[in-house]
Amino acid sequence: MREINTAMGHKILLIDDDANILRMLSSVFRFEGYSVITAEGGRKGLEILYSDQEIEVVICDIKMPQMDGEKVLEQIRSRYPLVPVIMLTGFLELETAVSVMRQGAFDYVTKPVNNEKLLEVVEKAVRQKERMIEELRKKGQEEKMAALGRLTAGFAHNLNNPLSCIIAYAEFLKTKYPHEERLDKMLSAANKMYAIISAMLDKTRKEHERKRVRINLNKMLTDELEFFEADLDFKHQVEKFLDLADDLPDIEAVYSDLSQCFSNLIKNALDAMKMSPEKKLMIRTGWNEQQLFVEIADSGCGIKKEDLPKLFEPFYSTKSKQGEDGLKGTGLGLYSSYQLMRPYGVTFDVQSEVGKGTRFRVLFPSALAIQPEAQTTVGSTV
Ligand SMILES: Nc1ncnc2c1ncn2[C@@H]1O[C@H](COP(=O)(O)OP(=O)(O)OP(=O)(O)O)[C@@H](O)[C@H]1O
Ligand SMILES: [Mg+2]
Repeated sequence: MREINTAMGHKILLIDDDANILRMLSSVFRFEGYSVITAEGGRKGLEILYSDQEIEVVICDIKMPQMDGEKVLEQIRSRYPLVPVIMLTGFLELETAVSVMRQGAFDYVTKPVNNEKLLEVVEKAVRQKERMIEELRKKGQEEKMAALGRLTAGFAHNLNNPLSCIIAYAEFLKTKYPHEERLDKMLSAANKMYAIISAMLDKTRKEHERKRVRINLNKMLTDELEFFEADLDFKHQVEKFLDLADDLPDIEAVYSDLSQCFSNLIKNALDAMKMSPEKKLMIRTGWNEQQLFVEIADSGCGIKKEDLPKLFEPFYSTKSKQGEDGLKGTGLGLYSSYQLMRPYGVTFDVQSEVGKGTRFRVLFPSALAIQPEAQTTVGSTV
């Protein structure tokens, strides 16, 4: 019995020297929603396959004059290893069937063809090919990220020396000007960079013993905003609204994992408002028995519905082409935030409307929460 109809739009190539069989099979497949190309003979079939990259499955008769099915199979296997080939064999040609299977045919169907059986085999071939392509895509992505990881580790390592120098001089100046608060901010930002670099190095070295510490999300978010105050546009042009649940439980996590994530989200919110007449940044926290949440919302340009699924992909950025907003991005902010948060079981929720703004919600499972003894269980709900 066949399962769901997977035919829609899939392109198959039918190769047979018998025009009647081609006519009959192509009407069966077209009726099922496949796109069908036919070729009378092996040579013609290969010509078509070489010129049409969209052909996904080949069905090929074995007994054909000039170039037989086994030759066709051999050519396809060597040039297009991902294209499944289904062979049509005569009723009593068991030996040939075994031989083509050895040569890498996906399957064989005996003549006279049972349409239902052939459709079933083709559907299986289409599904298997899709799975193989998806696996190859994932593997390619992983290799790309591993290479990027090695590169990042190198950069991170090289940044440590100049950064230590900045910290040392700032500390020296602090002894000379102990009341200069801007030096505190400078030191705090430089130490944060140091923590980020160490976290990056830790990650790439796959050291798992990074220390989780008690974190108060409200305090962390207030500190993040404090760092952004160094940006004069942020300080003077952005209206900030904070709605922080005062009974929010602390959570246990690696500090820089979370601070990098929030910093990426806030930076994106500011970028999104760069050209907006009204710049409102809203940060909210809350919790219930299942989750703690941090919400970062802006009144910026918003995100098109069709772009939402791409946000967390590596290198997806709308800031790479220099536009009138002058923004530049690598498209790794959300991807790295997602990777950093994954070990905590954190999920992201994004709501957005073009021209109105965007709301990112970071949802932490309550298992991460550390309840102080005196704390009650009442809180704002998700
Ligand atoms: N708050 C937001 N409002 C509108 N678009 C957003 C928002 N946050 C993210 N985006 C979209 O998602 C894309 C990817 O964001 P991401 O942070 O991963 O990369 P980036 O900001 O472009 O570059 P960077 O690596 O410097 O962070 C952005 O280019 C932008 O198009
Ligand atoms: Mg970003």
